[in-house]
Order: sequence, then C-alpha cells, then structure tokens
Amino acid sequence: MEPPEMINAGELVLKRWEIEWAPAALDAIKDSLPELRQFLPWATDGYGLEESREYISRSSADWDAGTQFNYAIFTAVGELAGSIGLMTRMGPGVLEIGYWTATPFAGRGYMTAAVQAISRVAVTLPGIERVAIKHDEANKASGAVAVKAGFTEVARHSREVEAEGESGTTIVRELRAAGA
Ligand SMILES: CC(C)(COP(=O)(O)OP(=O)(O)OC[C@H]1O[C@@H](n2cnc3c(N)ncnc32)[C@H](O)[C@@H]1OP(=O)(O)O)[C@@H](O)C(=O)NCCC(=O)NCCS
Repeated sequence: MEPPEMINAGELVLKRWEIEWAPAALDAIKDSLPELRQFLPWATDGYGLEESREYISRSSADWDAGTQFNYAIFTAVGELAGSIGLMTRMGPGVLEIGYWTATPFAGRGYMTAAVQAISRVAVTLPGIERVAIKHDEANKASGAVAVKAGFTEVARHSREVEAEGESGTTIVRELRAAGA
C-alpha cells in the first residue's frame, strides 16, 4: 500500500516531502507559531532548521516503511502553504489525516481542498475502508475542515492536554469509502 508521491488538489499540489524544503518549512512554521502552537505540541519557539530537517528525514523513512505518508502543500506558484499526512497508527483499514496550514494561507479553503483530495486517494488504497481526523474540541477550524470535507463524528474521548489551546476532549471524525 503506497499512495502517489504527488496529488493534485485543485489549485494546490501535494508533494511527498523533500529534504531541500526544510528551510522553507521552517520559515512557514516560524511565521505560523502563534496559531500552530495552540494545537500542535511540537510547534515551539525552539523549533529550528535541525527539527525541520529531522521531520523530513523521518517522513522519508516512514514513507519507505509504509507507516506514514507526509506531503508538503504548494500553491500553483510554488509557495509552501502547509503540510498534510496519512498515518497508519489507528490500525488496519483506516488512515488518519494530520495537517497544518501556514497562517498567511489560512481561511482560503486550502486545507479543506487538500483533505478532500488526499481522502479520495486514501480510500482507493488496498485494504483502506475509511479515513479519520482527530481534533481537539476547541480546535474549531480543524473541526470545520473535517465537516466541510464530509467527515462525521464517530467518537469523542478525554485525553491529556498537550498543547496550549486544547480542552482535553478529542473528537474523532471519519469518512468511509463508498460501499465500505
Ligand atoms: C486547522 C487548519 C489546518 C485549517 O486550515 P485552513 O487552510 O485555514 O482551512 P480552510 O480554509 O479549508 O477551512 C477553515 C475553516 O475553519 C473556520 N474557522 C477558522 N477559525 C474558526 C473558529 N475560531 N471558529 C469556527 N470556525 C473557524 C473557517 O471559517 C473555515 O470554515 P468556512 O470555510 O466554513 O468559513 C489551520 O487552522 C491550522 O493549521 N491550525 C493550526 C494547526 C492545527 O490545528 N492542525 C490540526 C490539528 S487536528
């Protein structure tokens, strides 16, 4: 099971992360820290080039191992607008989607388009019956993305708070493949 290294999403393109993009990723993350740190525990003032390179190297290894498939999101003119990935950590039959949008590109429908495109690809992969998005209840933007992309709530549970904007209640939303 392996998704394509490039996915078209309307005016966006999703591309498997390459190590050359580490400085651009770092710039995007640094510009977006106030928003990212609310819900992503790794987004801290200490995030630097080393962490950015490490993320991409790990993404590359995970892709080769078949455990996680992470993509950079580019605009039509090549600006790095965010990141999205498919994770196998929920177990067989399901791929979990994780994402962030760089703040200058937020609110344009980009993540909704990226989620829709990656979901379409994910449910055609062998053995995959559904895709899932988990987000904190306080993360209204992430919830809005999932709902706009057609995901419905299947569970909610408590967990330890890891980032400053979190409430501690996780909402799990899923989208099933046609006929699954
Ligand atoms: C969640 C995130 C990826 C959304 O990216 P985006 O590209 O702005 O998403 P979209 O433009 O496709 O959609 C955002 C929606 O959230 C809505 N939204 C944003 N802030 C909101 C808020 N505080 N309350 C309610 N809705 C909100 C927007 O209005 C929009 O919905 P609409 O089109 O119906 O108006 C982005 O906010 C982000 O990176 N957040 C920080 C990292 C993060 O939380 N990642 C996900 C962890 S689960």
